[in-house]
Amino acid sequence: MIPRIYIPADSGALALGAEKVAKAIRAELSERGVEAKIVRNGSRGAYFLEPMVEVATANGRVAYGPVKPSDVKGLFDSGFLTGGHHKRWLGSPDKIPFFAKQTRLTFARCGVIDPLSLDSYKSHGGLAGLQNAVAMAPADVVKQVTESGLRGRGGAGFPTGIKWKTVLDTAGEQKYIVCNADEGDSATFADRMIMEGDPFVLIEGMAIAGIATGATKGFVYVRSEYPHAVATMNKAVAIARKAGVLGVNVLGSPNAFDMEIRVGAGAYVCGEETSLLNSLEGKRGVVRAKPPLPAIQGLFGKPTVINNVISLASVPIIMDKGAAYYKDFGMGRSRGTIPIQIAGNVKHGGLFETAFGLTLGEIVDDIGGGTASGRPVKAVQVGGPLGAYFPRALFDTPFDYEEFAKRDGLIGHAGITVFDDTADMLKQARFAMEFCAIESCGKCTPCRIGSTRGVEVLDKVAAGIEAEKNLALVTDLCNTMKFGSLCALGGFTPYPVMSSITHFPEDFKPAPARVAAE
Ligand SMILES: Cc1cc2nc3c(=O)[nH]c(=O)nc-3n(C[C@H](O)[C@H](O)[C@H](O)COP(=O)(O)O)c2cc1C
Ligand code: SF4
Repeated sequence: MIPRIYIPADSGALALGAEKVAKAIRAELSERGVEAKIVRNGSRGAYFLEPMVEVATANGRVAYGPVKPSDVKGLFDSGFLTGGHHKRWLGSPDKIPFFAKQTRLTFARCGVIDPLSLDSYKSHGGLAGLQNAVAMAPADVVKQVTESGLRGRGGAGFPTGIKWKTVLDTAGEQKYIVCNADEGDSATFADRMIMEGDPFVLIEGMAIAGIATGATKGFVYVRSEYPHAVATMNKAVAIARKAGVLGVNVLGSPNAFDMEIRVGAGAYVCGEETSLLNSLEGKRGVVRAKPPLPAIQGLFGKPTVINNVISLASVPIIMDKGAAYYKDFGMGRSRGTIPIQIAGNVKHGGLFETAFGLTLGEIVDDIGGGTASGRPVKAVQVGGPLGAYFPRALFDTPFDYEEFAKRDGLIGHAGITVFDDTADMLKQARFAMEFCAIESCGKCTPCRIGSTRGVEVLDKVAAGIEAEKNLALVTDLCNTMKFGSLCALGGFTPYPVMSSITHFPEDFKPAPARVAAE
């Protein structure tokens, strides 16, 4: 049998040198006159081990990583094509603790299969959910998704089944499925990993959403910074169309569904669903007032489901294994699994899919391994740039929508950024206001003007000018932004600002005291 070597072509792995490693392996194979099949898979998500190369052996796959081009000769000398020992040897990927501790439902195939092989997708359980969906009444598909407890993974955690039911129940000669792949949150890369590593699962999820709601057309709105994801998705859509997974008769059924990939020009606010719809329609990315809800009047005024990549990519497993199977994972009202993305100053950065319920401390200390700098963890921002900063005192918070909300935090798209004790939380609070000022769409005053005033007032605090009075002013401003903004950009910027003030008051002391303390 010809040896099979897996080298990730995921853009995270490429950024870490996977292409150079692939080149070195090809050169070594030709020099030694050895024949082997190279598969360019996605990443399994342990970026601290990338580029992670795997070989298929008689006893299963064996991983090596992080591999440098200079390791390649030695790997061949150690007999890595049959799983031989070497300093980069990691053993069976399933036994590497970072993977062994995970529950992979949505990401089961990511990093395992050739992303553009539909046969490989099918042989790993792909299309079973869609096959079930085409044999069911739309309302029953919606019922399954509702009963699974799946909530939107884009940030708001809104129940996916309820959104789909609204679109199903709304009359319209044309309905749409829009997939939000803008992925603007800091520390997040789950959407990108799926699009690059298992694109058919997203296509399958969108086709199921179409069948469930009566939508015949779908769009994936991808950020322009994701050229690899865009290329992979375009290729996968063409393959799916040719194979009859998309088209006028999805899997030979009477249901029609087709889709296109669209690239955004790049604005954080274009991840907000109504801005995204404007952008897709070719207009400026400005937030629309709600109502009407997109489910009633969305893209081009038609009933539209807008879901995040991970929400849609989680549907095939629900339709394959059933609502009860999925719902069995998790805690409270947070059901199923969530791909937590661990980034920032952390030792073991990467994507970790697990059932809801792990504590923040377990995620940061046990899975993330603490900071990369080796210094104590000071703060963790959960939920992207609009998420709160949690101190160690809140590390017992379970990863659950309601538990985070109870502590004035949010899960968002499940990205977490770790900071060590050198972080200055006043600077982080200022950054939040500045980010809001730069990214504001300008439609409402609390966000457009408030964020700029927020930067100015925080600068006064930093300079020690009437610090107490100005901190009170920041609090007042945050309340105005929280309750007076049209969307969550202005409405949630107070979370990082107020959590910094509340949990790290020592960083907001007047300048002389701060200097003296340092
Ligand atoms: C400023 C802002 C940016 C957002 N960015 C994203 C994003 O990049 N991706 C995403 O899926 N949702 C984003 N959202 C949330 C979307 O508005 C919307 O809730 C989501 O696409 C719905 O899909 P879901 O129910 O599957 O989560 C953003 C919201 C706001 C207010
Ligand atoms: S809160 Fe900011 S981004 Fe949202 S609508 Fe208002 S101005 Fe636009």
